[in-house]
Amino acid sequence: MLKVSATPVDVQKLKKCVILYATKGAVLTHEARKFDKIHGDVVTKAIKASRFQGQAEGIFSFSTPHLDDVDHVVLVGLGDAAQLTSHIWRNASILGATEANKLFVSDVSLMVESIKGDKTKEDDVAKAIVDGFHMAEYKFDRFKTDQKAHHKVSLKKLTVQLKNSAEFKKEIPLLEAQAEGVNLARDLVNLPPNISNPDLMVKTAKDIGKDGVKVKILGEKEMEKLGLNLLLAVGRASAQESRLIIIKYTGDKKSKDYKCIVGKGVMFDTGGYNLKPSAGMAQMKGDMAGSAAVMGAMKALSKRKPKINVIGVCGCVMNMIDGNGFLPSDILTSYSGKTVEIGNTDAEGRLVLADAMSYIIDKEKPTEIIDIATLTGACMVALGGSYAGLFSNNEKMAEGIKKSGDAVGERFWRLPIDDAYAAKPMLADLNNDGSRFGGASTAAVFLKNFVGDTPWAHLDIAGVGIGEKISGTSPVDGASGFGTKAFIHYLENAK
Ligand code: BES
Ligand code: ZN
Ligand code: ZN
Repeated sequence: MLKVSATPVDVQKLKKCVILYATKGAVLTHEARKFDKIHGDVVTKAIKASRFQGQAEGIFSFSTPHLDDVDHVVLVGLGDAAQLTSHIWRNASILGATEANKLFVSDVSLMVESIKGDKTKEDDVAKAIVDGFHMAEYKFDRFKTDQKAHHKVSLKKLTVQLKNSAEFKKEIPLLEAQAEGVNLARDLVNLPPNISNPDLMVKTAKDIGKDGVKVKILGEKEMEKLGLNLLLAVGRASAQESRLIIIKYTGDKKSKDYKCIVGKGVMFDTGGYNLKPSAGMAQMKGDMAGSAAVMGAMKALSKRKPKINVIGVCGCVMNMIDGNGFLPSDILTSYSGKTVEIGNTDAEGRLVLADAMSYIIDKEKPTEIIDIATLTGACMVALGGSYAGLFSNNEKMAEGIKKSGDAVGERFWRLPIDDAYAAKPMLADLNNDGSRFGGASTAAVFLKNFVGDTPWAHLDIAGVGIGEKISGTSPVDGASGFGTKAFIHYLENAK
């Protein structure tokens, strides 16, 4: 993992590959100007000869063979200073780090300083920058057997110069633990379904368990006894055993209160008998991104050790086809006792979540529950890659999750849960089907039936959880680990 260190600001000590920031009009930051002066206006001259305008997502690098300590300068554009957010800082940092990698450098140094007009706090800027580097450092290349040195990530060391370097040093291991969680989530999503199956999730949970966290696994026999028939129906046609994974982190022994996070872990979604079309089916290896985010968050919490209590739940199944598969028009009795007629075997995520949530609410009585899922194509159509859908029966939770998402660059947009969107059952209490229109809300209304009065939020990450380049997606390749960081931030900061 990238070795990050924090030191006081000193332009003389910038070494190797130096990243500098500029706002709209290619206006250099205060310290960057100092750097420029010391080195005979090397930066201003280079900018003049370029088309770099300091625009957001603008990037421009050049080599400096005539300088002693500095080999490369990477200029990163931030756009309008008044519009800056930690989200823009993070994305700029990802671009800067990616550029440094293209230059094949291992050692990067940069300065964090307040920019006139920018309302982002310096500490938040530093966190966003380091997080951006961690995001950019990840590469999923383990199945490329003939990797040349220049294909590998070259970044090894990042030195961040900032005023509060002593304070910020404490953040570094916390950010590292966060990155480990995010990388775990990204791995689980990027791995193919012949490897990333319910058994791998069990193994992953047990590995997290080594760090002082309790892990409980329910297999098909136990779930049959308990009556988690919705979850079991989805996994019934798969040769892989369905699993419910429960990870309990107790950081505050004095309290009996637990918050709960629940992930959709459909390790592959063929659609079942309502089979998906070929185009795009392969993408459904990422239909477990919700569970991956839960795993990532639990791993990070086990290392960050905050004084809170959290239960992570992953409902892990594969939605397949065989002679035993569930059928459209089947009627199933859920763990909660409510009956569900199957309108569509491809609307399987809400079935898994319904049983997982009513089970954990019944057993553990969490004070809050948040589910996360690549649940509907409709949400992806509505929000694209920039925002995930947020639904909640609780104003405070919705507000808190939105704020946390903004802080960590995983943004949420609130959408309605209204009975007007409910699918109409014919013979049972509920129907799992949805329409193309308002389908994200139809799914949320379905889930609402299984949480009772528990303060609840539902996060639909269909557009952002799977590593596909749709407009607005984060500038990293493949899976983003979306949700991991928002969970960590929300759970650690919610009162
Ligand atoms: N896993 C899909 C949702 C999805 C689609 C996630 C695209 C990411 C990208 C989910 O199980 C599904 O198939 N939902 C259906 C529901 C419909 C049949 C009511 C959908 O959204 O079309
Ligand atoms: Zn589906
Ligand atoms: Zn699905």
